[in-house]
Amino acid sequence: MSQKTWGGRFSGATDQRVEQFTESISVDRRLYRQDIVASQAHARMLAEVGLVTPAEADAICTTLDAIAADIDAGRMEYSVSLEDIHTHIERALIAKLGDVGRKLHTGRSRNDQVVTDVRLWVRDAIDELDDRLKELQRAFVSFAGREDGIILPGYTHLQRAQPVLAAHYLLAYVEKFQRDRERLADCRKRVNVLSLGAAALAGSSLPIDRESVRRKLGFDDIARNSLDVSSDRDFLLEFVFCLSLVAVHLSGWAEEWVIWSTTEFNFLELPDAFCTGSSIMPHKKNPDVLELVRGKSGRVIGTLNQLLILVKALPLAYNRDLQEDKAALFDAFDTVVGCLAVAAPMVEQTKFRREVIAARLEDGFLDATTLMESLIESGVPMRSAHEAVGSLVKECESRRCRLADLPAEVFEKAAPGAGAKVRERLGVANAVAAFQSYGSTAPAEVERQLSEWKKRV
Ligand code: ARG
Repeated sequence: MSQKTWGGRFSGATDQRVEQFTESISVDRRLYRQDIVASQAHARMLAEVGLVTPAEADAICTTLDAIAADIDAGRMEYSVSLEDIHTHIERALIAKLGDVGRKLHTGRSRNDQVVTDVRLWVRDAIDELDDRLKELQRAFVSFAGREDGIILPGYTHLQRAQPVLAAHYLLAYVEKFQRDRERLADCRKRVNVLSLGAAALAGSSLPIDRESVRRKLGFDDIARNSLDVSSDRDFLLEFVFCLSLVAVHLSGWAEEWVIWSTTEFNFLELPDAFCTGSSIMPHKKNPDVLELVRGKSGRVIGTLNQLLILVKALPLAYNRDLQEDKAALFDAFDTVVGCLAVAAPMVEQTKFRREVIAARLEDGFLDATTLMESLIESGVPMRSAHEAVGSLVKECESRRCRLADLPAEVFEKAAPGAGAKVRERLGVANAVAAFQSYGSTAPAEVERQLSEWKKRV
């Protein structure tokens, strides 16, 4: 007798090269817990509707627990001839229970089984990611609390633009990771839908109770169309997109800190424990962790691409191509979790070099825009105020000085009647103090948001 669950209609054995080529056990063995939990819910339901006896369901569930314990303890022998985790577990059950074990697969197919397992896995993965993202947010919030009062140059085009409080800068990342968490929570709604019961593609002629399985497995909804079920990997693509965006946020942050930790910037003191040295240059302290976080984002984005290409031309319903989804899914998840696991403690232990930042803070005309805004407040039309400050900056460039160093007559010439009040806005500290809009770097606004975030994470 063939070991294959589908061996009945075949007379010859499968070519070994085909077994090697078509196996997924090397990847999907990771789904064993989900597979067992889903099978137990299925078995209980089969008993409820009379397709197995309660005693048979008991035996199946207890034996599945024993199989889980065997797998936990490394006692499961894996073989490519058994293809995947579903077949391995079913075969182990049959080996222990005989005919009773042969009843488990009643009213289901591996097509709805595999999606159910993956949905259960992704649901847990989302919950873990939420915890890890929250931990990273906490690290940024605690950094923001620690670095109270530091003013940083804010950049656009990587050119000095306007001053921002360090806390404002750090909370910008907290917002990005908050959106990531919200996106994942939203994705979870479409993940948490029961596939089981769609069977191969058309449902079942047996009196299965999908609502009962839904309840047992904690799904919020039941997939309505059986034909859609086994081809649908939208939830998985969406999840990997969410992961890609987390990776992109991490990559942007890593890039910024790589730049900020150069001798040229020298804004940051990265923790020794999160840097590496050079085998030949004794003085080096390299931001390899940040570089790898940046580099690994490419890998995550790659899996998203891979998945989109995988599904783009599949007819309904199940096609074996779909087996390729899991390697991409697991790799994207593991990569992002790996990045988050180092990012949080690294943020927690990094410090700003206050003196270095302060020493050059008055360079780069960070106060020019608030100077313009004070002219606007004194009645100058915006475009004229822009031109006036532009001409003052030009004057500074030729004199090699700051706006605050220009004599009063020069101000008077550029903005007649502007007076001393306008000049009070000059200097970075005064510029920061002048902000007032909601969401701005105004000290009171940043303080308010920081205390809200402290409560939230
Ligand atoms: N190993 C398969 C996968 O991951 C399980 C489903 C197989 N279904 C089938 N009809 N061959 O997609």
